[in-house]
Amino acid sequence: MDPTRDNPLIRIKAFFDGLGIFTFFTVILLLILGMGALFGWFGKTDTPEDAAGDIRYEIKKEIDSAQATVLTEEQISTVLSDVAGKLASSKAIAVEKPEQIVPGSDTAKNLAEAPAVDLTNIDASPAEADAAIDPAVLEIGKAQFLVCGACHGQNGEGGAAAPPLAGSEWVTGPISNLVIIQLRGLKGPITVAGKEYNFPAGMTPMAYQTDEQIAGVLTYIRNNFGNKASAVKPEQVAALRSEVGKPQATVEELTKP
Ligand code: HEC
Repeated sequence: MDPTRDNPLIRIKAFFDGLGIFTFFTVILLLILGMGALFGWFGKTDTPEDAAGDIRYEIKKEIDSAQATVLTEEQISTVLSDVAGKLASSKAIAVEKPEQIVPGSDTAKNLAEAPAVDLTNIDASPAEADAAIDPAVLEIGKAQFLVCGACHGQNGEGGAAAPPLAGSEWVTGPISNLVIIQLRGLKGPITVAGKEYNFPAGMTPMAYQTDEQIAGVLTYIRNNFGNKASAVKPEQVAALRSEVGKPQATVEELTKP
């Protein structure tokens, strides 16, 4: 039998050796944990900005996937570059809200002197309803419609962002309505083909388009998607240019179709 087994001194030494090794590793572990906490090795500590960022990424992902089901990447980039190009080349327009116009100012005088627009002149063109439509005008309209289609659907079927243009009595109705909607945008409840819509932001004005482009796109939507109505002439748009800058139109301000 090994005589050291019964030697109490050796046993006590062995105990303290064990204790020493245990303490050594405990200290090392604590050091690692401490440094880990200091340098964020064990998962990042969420600052409020990180937390908000995470939520934004989640929302962006949802929006992207929702959009992917409606528009292809290619369609989105075509529309975006088209819109961006137009915005870049368009002039800023003054927003002349009545309550912001200084009494006695040039703007107030110009507005007071501006002749009232006679809508009957613009809307009376029944004789031309059946006239053949110039393909060149439809071509202009088709190019403009890319932007409209982003909200109204590329076939005018309507969608989550806008009411339908196909079968809309507004589209085949009075031309002045359509021109005003282009120049001022539209807001508030509107009934289209028997269904009521009310989009929170409404439609933004698209007055950056030339008279020819507006006439083209309106002629295009009046003669597409199963719609049939007279062409819109650039002069009919020009006659309403003074509408630009007024607040978004409401249905009450339009002529009932
Ligand atoms: C940013 C989205 C958006 C774009 C782009 C857009 N619209 Fe609209 N449009 C709307 C919304 C929203 C309404 C309904 C407004 C309301 O709630 O009163 C509307 C309403 C209309 C209406 C009357 C209602 C109907 O459905 O007949 C016409 C006509 C129309 N838009 C034509 C156009 C044309 C033409 C273009 C392109 C030149 C265009 N819109 C581009 C969002 C859009």
